[in-house]
Amino acid sequence: MPPQGSQLHILAADANPALLDLLWSQPLDRWPEQIVAALPRGISRHVVRFVYLEDKMLAVKEIGEDVAFHEYEALRELVRLGAPVVTPLAVVTGRQTANGERLNAALVTRHLPFSLPYRSLFGHRQRAETVTRLINALDVLMVRLHLLGFYWGDVSLSNTLFRRDAGSFAAYLVDAETGEMHPDLPEKLREYDMDVARTNIIGELMDLQAGEELAPEVDAVAIGDAFVARYRRLWEELTEKTEFQVDEKWKVTERIHRLNSLGFDVDEMSLSTGRDGTRVFIQPKVVEPGHYRRRIMRLTGIDVEENQARRMVNDMEQYRMDSGHPTMPESVSAHEWLTNVFEPTVNAIPRELRGKLQPAELFHEVLEHRWFISQHQHRDVPQREAVASFVDNVLRHRRDEVSFVGEAPRSLSENPGAVTGDTAY
Ligand SMILES: Nc1ncnc2c1ncn2[C@@H]1O[C@H](COP(=O)(O)OP(=O)(O)OP(=O)(O)O)[C@@H](O)[C@H]1O
Ligand SMILES: [Mg+2]
Repeated sequence: MPPQGSQLHILAADANPALLDLLWSQPLDRWPEQIVAALPRGISRHVVRFVYLEDKMLAVKEIGEDVAFHEYEALRELVRLGAPVVTPLAVVTGRQTANGERLNAALVTRHLPFSLPYRSLFGHRQRAETVTRLINALDVLMVRLHLLGFYWGDVSLSNTLFRRDAGSFAAYLVDAETGEMHPDLPEKLREYDMDVARTNIIGELMDLQAGEELAPEVDAVAIGDAFVARYRRLWEELTEKTEFQVDEKWKVTERIHRLNSLGFDVDEMSLSTGRDGTRVFIQPKVVEPGHYRRRIMRLTGIDVEENQARRMVNDMEQYRMDSGHPTMPESVSAHEWLTNVFEPTVNAIPRELRGKLQPAELFHEVLEHRWFISQHQHRDVPQREAVASFVDNVLRHRRDEVSFVGEAPRSLSENPGAVTGDTAY
């Protein structure tokens, strides 16, 4: 329960005393420009401000006390379950001005580095493909949340943040005000979530078209429908019971491979035979996403998005093949690959340009570029040469597209202190 009285009170899991120094006695919309970071923000009813606190960028949202506590708890639970959501840091209550006027509570979350609100991706008359990639990412997010039993209640593009993921996007939940956890999420609630999502997405896309930020020929309603259809396919693929003959056991393996290729892991598979003993039914019990991501985490300690991780795993495999020791243990080849390939590639990017993209995304783009120029020049361009060409011919020219705030990451292992802003893909 929120505390009574008017004294400033901060509830935080990892209490940082510096939080007390923020200007809690002033409404957020009057926080001075010097302390507020001008990062891109989605549309919202509440006032949201970004501030630096020590070396971290925070997002502060002014909302009612009950809602703040509810959202804080919902986000904490989702973080605990490993869902892609913003990390909650604190709820601040008992705020009042110097004249004793009471102010709304504040929810503090960690700013999601390298995240982009969907509107920042537009403004350059984006093509339908960009919209499709965003929608696909939102589909995966919805399925992940529903598998965990989370009912969102207010799904929209504005309540989602996007991060680049090897040419596509990964979606994160940013607004959990209306969310609820259910031990067994009823289908009706999933359907309701999808209904709200469809309506909101169509409205948001039409809004972009009205503002001439999205090409008028993009069919918003068809995209809304495709969003729902893709969600249904994905949900079925992940949860449906499949039936096969006893002598078709390879179908189990096939199913697992299919789930893995969608980026999900099978935790448990329930197997049962039919009455006559000739048929077998399988149902993946718990499926968790992030197959490649966890593999990269385990092998290198780097936390990246799923497609980036897949790319890294493939490159690592290639490295092992080319090393002349194809049987070397994966843990050894991963370490060598990190030291001899990944780190030198990212470190070869000039420091001032490193904040433009996450290291894993830079790596992905360098590989794409290398493939492109090798094909063009009919020769196998070495990595070192590809990086130099990428920096000069691609990365430098992105300057106008990126509003770069803060410092560039100093090394790979550090949490990036830099955040990309408006970027058109
Ligand atoms: N931790 C964060 N990291 C990055 N951006 C954030 C973060 N928290 C909030 N934002 C930005 O602020 C915007 C508004 O946040 P949010 O959706 O929680 O506000 P809201 O007022 O509750 O929205 P609504 O109008 O949907 O109720 C988001 O779209 C996002 O762009
Ligand atoms: Mg919102």
